Formats: sequence, C-alpha cells, structure tokens
Amino acid sequence: RAVMEEVRQINELAKDERARMSESEQRGFARLLSRYLDTRSTSQAVLEWDKIEPPSPELLRPYTELPEPANEAEVRSLLSRVAVLKLNGGLGTSMGCSGPKSVIEVRAGQTFLDIIVKQIESLNKRHNVDVPLLLMNSFNTDADTQKVIRRYEGMVRLYTFQQSRYPRLVKDTLRPLCLGSDVYDKEDWYPPGHGNMYDALAESGVLNSLISQGKEWIFVSNSDNLGACVDLRILKAVADSGADFTVEMATRTRSDRKGGTLISYNGQPRLLEVAQVDKEHMADFQNISKFRVFNTNSLWIGLKAIQRNMEHGAGSMDLDIIPNVKTVKGEAALQLETAMGAAIAHFRRAVGISVPRSRFLPVKTTSDLLLLQSNLYSVSSGTVVMNPERPPELGTPVIRLGPEFKKVSEFLSRFDSMPDVLELESLTVSGSVHFGKRAKLSGTVIIVAQPGASIDIPAGAQLENCVVTGNLHV
Ligand code: UTP
Repeated sequence: RAVMEEVRQINELAKDERARMSESEQRGFARLLSRYLDTRSTSQAVLEWDKIEPPSPELLRPYTELPEPANEAEVRSLLSRVAVLKLNGGLGTSMGCSGPKSVIEVRAGQTFLDIIVKQIESLNKRHNVDVPLLLMNSFNTDADTQKVIRRYEGMVRLYTFQQSRYPRLVKDTLRPLCLGSDVYDKEDWYPPGHGNMYDALAESGVLNSLISQGKEWIFVSNSDNLGACVDLRILKAVADSGADFTVEMATRTRSDRKGGTLISYNGQPRLLEVAQVDKEHMADFQNISKFRVFNTNSLWIGLKAIQRNMEHGAGSMDLDIIPNVKTVKGEAALQLETAMGAAIAHFRRAVGISVPRSRFLPVKTTSDLLLLQSNLYSVSSGTVVMNPERPPELGTPVIRLGPEFKKVSEFLSRFDSMPDVLELESLTVSGSVHFGKRAKLSGTVIIVAQPGASIDIPAGAQLENCVVTGNLHV
C-alpha cells in the first residue's frame, strides 16, 4: 500500500501534465516496485543448479527438420492468422544517433523500418495476403516514429501502440527522480523493457482487436534484428505443434555471452539468464557445448494464451525483474525492467526452435553496420542474404573498431566505400584510420594508428594477413 501511495504522490505533486502516469501505469509500476522490494534482499533469482537440465529434443527442435507448408493454400491460411510486431521502444544513442534506433540508415539509404516494411510488403504481395505490422513504441520513440511511418501508407497495414513509461528512482532512497523538480524532464522516466509488451498489448486494446480479426499468433522480434523475417516453416511448426510460446534460439559461439539459454527447470521450460546463475556454476553455464543455444528474442506467441494469462489478474504474468542502474543527471538512478522471454514460465506449451544464424542479424554497433553495408550481404525485398561467394567455413568476420568509429556519422566518414570482406576473418582497427575506395581485406588484418597519428588505407589497397601500424600515407 505504501508503494501505491508513493506512486499516487507522483501524480498529485506533478505540476506538469506530462509528469502524470495513467491508471494502468500506476498499477503496473507499483506492482513492479513492491515485488522488487519484497525480493531484493533474497537471492530468489538464482536457480537451483541441480534442477537445471539442457533442453530435450522435444523442447528444442532443429529448424532443419521442420517441414515446409504443403501448398500455397496452406501458406495463405497460416499467414492470414499471424501478425508481426517489432519492438521499437529503443533509441539509437549507443550508436551516436538521436531518435528511434529503427530510423538509422543501415544500408543504401534504407532504415531498419524501411527494410522491415519492404519485408512485409513483399511477403503480402507474394502470397496475396494482408499480414499487419505493429510497432510497440515508447514515449521516447513515438513522436518521431509517427512522422516517418507516413511514408509507408499504402504499403502495409501498420499499427502502433505505446508501452508504459515508469519513473526512474534515486538508487539510494528509491524516491522517484521526478519528485525533485517542478518541470517535466524526459530523463526522469524510462520504458520498462520489452517484458512490458504483454501489458501494453492488452491495455492498448490491440490484443483484443487482433483476436477479433481472426489472428491466432503474434511474431515479436527486435526491430534491430534484420534476420527476423516471417518464416513459413516456423509458422507451420507453431501452428502444427499447438505451442502457445515458441522461442527462436541460435547456436552459441564463444562471443555470444549475452542472452539466456533454454533449459528445463524442474521439468518446466525456462530461459536461464546469467543473473540467475551463482558464481560456483558460472563456468558450467558458459560451457557452450552443454548449453548450446541462446535466445534471439524472436517469439511466436498465441494471442488467446496471452489473453488467458492477462485475465488471471495480478501475478499471472509477473516476470523476473532486471534492476538496471544508470547515471542520470550525475546521479545513480535505478530502473526496474523486465524481458519478454521470461514469460516462457507462464505459458502451458512452450518450445524452442534452434534456427540458423541468418535469423539473428542484430545491429548493435558500427562493427555490425560495416558487415551489413559490405559485400558480405545483399538485401532484396527486405531480406538480408549472405553472399553465396563467402566460404561457409569462415562464418562471419569478427570486427573490432575503436572508439573513433563508435558514432554512425564518424564511422561513415572513415570509409569512402565499404571494403571487400568476402575473405576476411577478423579486422581490428584502432586510432584514426581512413579507408579509401574499394579496399580488399583478407584473413586477419590489424590496423593501429598511434595517438596523434593517422593512417589512410589507399583506394584499391589489398591487405591480407597483415599488421599496419604507425603513420601511413601511401
Ligand atoms: P535492446 O537493444 O535494449 O536489448 O532492446 P538488447 O541489448 O539487444 O538485449 P535483448 O534483445 O533484450 O536481449 C532489444 C529490442 O527491444 C526494444 C528495442 O527497441 C530493441 O528493438 N525495446 C527495449 C523496447 O521496445 N522497449 C524497451 O523498453 C526496451
């Protein structure tokens, strides 16, 4: 009750209309905060290692064994029952961009959203269907997104809804930051993670509306994962299996440390996150031959199952809390978040599918951008395809770019054109380096410009298994 009073106080004391929460935001936030207060002193999040088992073959099905739909009639029937949702609450700040991340230009003048819209438009044209596209915006991304989506009119049936906005808390006192000032400041608020999607779908009315249009499943994925397009074999598997929660898992490599792994816990499917593992078992958790897959955050969920869960009221969709501390206006601020994959524990029939790596193409850094803009990939009808000339045994090149490349604008100014990376295994660049047109990089290439110096890789240069250092102007 004390928590709810605190929450109500925010609204009562707010001088600015914008610093008020809706009724459902107040309820949602109060519940999250009281759960946090109840559990923060215990180590409830940590799971008992003895009860954890790697997934059985029934729990984790390989994509390669999934059958294609039998004919075009089946394809159309499947597609008529699905809606696509992209998580669009995040900003492009980590790549030095202002505004929603999804409006960053990723390839040939096309943004993430342009590519996503193209994907759905061509799927609809190819099969003569009308799969709708939904965007879950946050208060940070909604206004800018509304402006850009006008250009998609007539291309796809596009709907948006907004997730909740919760107050950040001063870490030590747990007092909302906004209570300290009379003016509304966006920095005092945050979108509480994609786990908020279930509440947002229900409260916006979108959930009921989709069900009444005859939709049975929603395919949800990160808007920055360009590999997450509608796949007919997965869709058929979702329909045939009757699963109400299907999560796409990809094979872990040594560099995939993030992302939960699929386990069976006490016989129940769960996604095991780093935070749920005690120190003693960390090495075991990181053993990629024991826990082979990680969560790509692409989910296929039964809409009626979400509805059933939501109707069971408070607690029926409680997700593990991820406390996140950030420095806001020079102060340590706490924000309580949840992740949508954690809901696996609340669905009756949950399964994983181990999908090819091509379904997980996230763009988190400019290193990812380098590959996406290079000849390693081509994009046609919104689908990103790896160049068939890339020797398969090489996998994806490992790219490490220094801080001079962190912002998209700086990154772009350092390449006259993207190098040929078809035979590249790894590239490390540090310091002020500039690439001329049509450079070709093969094998392992390391380029290090000392502080105060700069290196220009000349147009047409061919670098193979070499280290370039110092101050090179050729
Ligand atoms: P992030 O980019 O923040 O997460 O969001 P991550 O580091 O990849 O880790 P995972 O995928 O959560 O494991 C992933 C997607 O979720 C959206 C972002 O816009 C992005 O598409 N998102 C995140 C929201 O829509 N709302 C949020 O509150 C947080």
